[in-house]
Amino acid sequence: MNRRLALLQPYPFERLRALLAQPASAVGAGGEGSRPAPPSRFVNLSIGEPRHATPAPITAALTGALAGLSAYPATAGSPALREAIAAWIGWRHQVPVDPGSELLPVNGSREALFAFAQTIIDPVPGALVVAPNPFYQIYEGAALLAGAQVHLVDQSPQNDLRCNWGAVPAEVWARTQLVFVCSPGNPTGAVMSLAEWQQLFELSDRHGFVIASDECYSEIYLDESAPPLSGLAASTKLGRRGHERLMMFSSLSKRSNVPGMRSGFVAGDASLISAFLKYRTYHGSAMNPAVQAASIAAWQDEQHVVENRRLYQAKFDAVVPLVQAVVPVRRPEAGFYLWLPVPDGDDCRFTWRLFHELNTMVLPGSFLGRRSDSSANPGAGFIRVALVEDLEACVEGVRRICSLLSVAF
Ligand SMILES: Cc1ncc(COP(=O)(O)O)c(C=O)c1O
Repeated sequence: MNRRLALLQPYPFERLRALLAQPASAVGAGGEGSRPAPPSRFVNLSIGEPRHATPAPITAALTGALAGLSAYPATAGSPALREAIAAWIGWRHQVPVDPGSELLPVNGSREALFAFAQTIIDPVPGALVVAPNPFYQIYEGAALLAGAQVHLVDQSPQNDLRCNWGAVPAEVWARTQLVFVCSPGNPTGAVMSLAEWQQLFELSDRHGFVIASDECYSEIYLDESAPPLSGLAASTKLGRRGHERLMMFSSLSKRSNVPGMRSGFVAGDASLISAFLKYRTYHGSAMNPAVQAASIAAWQDEQHVVENRRLYQAKFDAVVPLVQAVVPVRRPEAGFYLWLPVPDGDDCRFTWRLFHELNTMVLPGSFLGRRSDSSANPGAGFIRVALVEDLEACVEGVRRICSLLSVAF
C-alpha cells in the first residue's frame, strides 16, 4: 500500500458529520436537557455546491452529442473545444492563447489540481509546496501524495484575509517547487491584485517555482464592473512572455452550474501544458465527447453566466446587511461564501448549536485550515456560509445565524 495515503486528513465534510453526531456536552454546548424544537425547514449552507439550474443549451448539447460515445476521445480534447476555450479566454481575460499548445481541457479543476502536483513535484527530500491557509484541501493531499511537504501561508484578519507572500522565508522559497494560489479565494472571497501577482512572479523568477492559479470562482463576482483579475491577465499586463511557470485552472462547475458534468480547463506555459498532457495521457483523463460538446456550448454562451451571477448578487444584497448589523464584515469581492467570525472563537460549538438548535448547517472554519508551528489555525473562530440555496432559504439561514451570533456580539 502507498504509505503516503496515511498522510491524508479526513475531508472537512467527514469531520462535520462527526462533529454534528457528538453529544452537546462533548462540544461544550450545555447538557442533554430539553432544547426548544428547531425550525422544521433544514437549510444547508455547508457545501460549496452550486444549486442553480443547469442552462438548457448545455443539457441539449450534451444529449445531442451521445453518438460521440462510440469513439475514444483524445486527451488533448477536440480542436473545436480547444478553440472555444481559447476564444473565451481571449474575450474574458484579454489574453491571446494558442489553442494548440497553451491549454488543455480537464475533468473539473479538482482532478487537474491534483494531477498537476503529480506532474510538477520532484519528490526530493525537503521538497515543498506552498498553499494558502485556510485552503481547498485538495492542495494539501496533492502535495503529500506527490511526496512534498506543505508550507502554509496564513490568511488572517491581520493580513486582510490575504497571503503575504513577502513574509515567506527565503529558506522556504528555496525548497518550493509549486505554489497554489486561490483567487477568488475559497473561503475568503479575496481576489489577488496586480501588485500581489507581481510580487509572486518576481519570487517565482528568483526561486524557480511553478504557480498553480486556482480560479474556479472567477465568474461569480459581485460587482459587474470589476471582474476578477486572472493570473494569465496579470502576467500579460506585466509583459511576461509565454506565462513562464504559470498555469491557470478554470472550471464550468460554478460558472455554468454543472458541477456534475466535470469540465474545466488549464491554460498557461506551453512547456507545462506539454508535460501535463504527457502525464494525463498515461493517467487516462480524456474528457467524455458528449461533455466536450456541452462544454463548447457553455463556453460560447455568456448570457446564462450573467443571469447566474445576478442570482448570487441578489443573495449577497439581501444577507450582507443582515450580517453587518451583527458582525463587522465586508462584502466579499467574489465567490459565493460568507466568512464570518463567531462569538468566543469556538467555530465548532457554534456550528453544532446552529445545526441542533436552528436546523441550519455551515462549515466550521477550523476544518478548512491548519495550525502551523508558529501560529494558530487562521480558520478557527470563523464559519463558512455557502449561499447556494435559493434566495429565501439563504435569507432564512442567515437570519438564524445572526440570531445565534447576536447572543455574543
Ligand atoms: C477552491 C476550489 N478549487 C477547486 C474546486 C473544484 O471544483 P471543480 O472540480 O468542480 O472544478 C473547488 C470546489 O468546490 C474549490 O472550492
